[in-house]
Amino acid sequence: MSKLLSLRSIEDIKKQRYRDEGVVTVTSLEQGEVEEAVYKKLYDLSLRIKVNPNLPELLQETHKCYLLDCLIYLSSGYQSLDASRPWLCYWILHALALMEIKTDEKLKSAVAQFLGKCQSPNGGFGGGPGHLPHLAATYAAVNALVTLGTEEAYNIINREKLQQFLWSMKQPDGSFCMHRDGEVDIRGVYCALAVASLTNLLSEELCRGTPEWIVSCQTYEGGFSGCPGMEAHGGYAFCGLSALIIMGKGHLCDLQALLRWTVNRQMKLEGGFQGRTNKLVDGCYSFWQGAAFPLIYSLMAEEGVRVTDHLFDERALQEYILTCCQHPQGGLLDKPGKHRDIYHTSYTLSGLSVAQHFMSGLHILGDTDNELACTHPVYNIRPDHVRKAMIYFSNLGVPNSHSSNNGT
Ligand code: FPP
Ligand code: ZN
Repeated sequence: MSKLLSLRSIEDIKKQRYRDEGVVTVTSLEQGEVEEAVYKKLYDLSLRIKVNPNLPELLQETHKCYLLDCLIYLSSGYQSLDASRPWLCYWILHALALMEIKTDEKLKSAVAQFLGKCQSPNGGFGGGPGHLPHLAATYAAVNALVTLGTEEAYNIINREKLQQFLWSMKQPDGSFCMHRDGEVDIRGVYCALAVASLTNLLSEELCRGTPEWIVSCQTYEGGFSGCPGMEAHGGYAFCGLSALIIMGKGHLCDLQALLRWTVNRQMKLEGGFQGRTNKLVDGCYSFWQGAAFPLIYSLMAEEGVRVTDHLFDERALQEYILTCCQHPQGGLLDKPGKHRDIYHTSYTLSGLSVAQHFMSGLHILGDTDNELACTHPVYNIRPDHVRKAMIYFSNLGVPNSHSSNNGT
């Protein structure tokens, strides 16, 4: 049974303004400006909903056109993402999949073939054809291929070489570097383990020392940082928690501290999430922070605690996304005043999906047409696509050779 959510009252929202306690800083001024812009949008909605009770509306048709156009042609503004082309494929395909939009078989095949060109002869995928393999691009390419869900797409992945690439990124302390001679951070661990678990390459040896390394990234605030000693951030917290869960080691982190930190990243007035303490709301954290909740519920369930109501305000998050993050001509964005882009389109929709699912029944703000498909909170791929790929790769067995660069 679905639970239809109603808007927060505009009077209640007004009471949530940030209080600077008489100390004006650049941060407090920026926060005030964002709150003002968000408040205006929410106030406007409170008036418009009196005329049209189906509001706020998810503009699925306009987002669909925007995404399909981007799959064929990108403006020069995307030049800086020329080394992130598998990411562009994944973000677009996943956003379309969340809206249950079927892609034409020819287009699917063309995307799969393009991703094949990004695969390195030494295993793993690069940011474009001929680029050095990189763990982030590899994760994006595998997620895109799994989202495509065709045998042609699955068979693009050279699993034997991929296994060698993953091993070549592994460090003696359990961490992973992003690319040859590249930086080590918690993204590397997540990307490596997500890819390995999806393609049936996960092994105890590949994970040796990794849970302990991840736990050493949990900070005094309760979130996870990119590497030990740095600042907790939602993107890194997602990577750390998901990677622990992939290894069945979620119980090793301080769950109460993580929950407290994550809960406090939801902004009181805006309803969306910030990435880190004292920073601004951003639509993409709807997923990076939001997905931590279903993951935390699953760990609480292992401890015998069943969560029956969300531990974040799911209607406030939906309000923020639907009211402040949609571009009227399609695509979604970080916050009012920012440009739309494919990254924010994908992650705000993913966050919207998280806010609608994971409790008994759907929790939908606005019309029931706003419903999105569920996303797997570990991979951010539809669970049906995850299952199908895992079954396919488990039937192929595990390649029996790997080469490690550190003798482990
Ligand atoms: C700060 O940006 C951003 C970071 C410190 C890292 C963000 C990490 C992710 C989003 C996760 C990446 C995950 C994978 C799987 C590759 P900022 O200072 O511009 O933003 P802020 O003010 O919101 O913190
Ligand atoms: Zn963002």
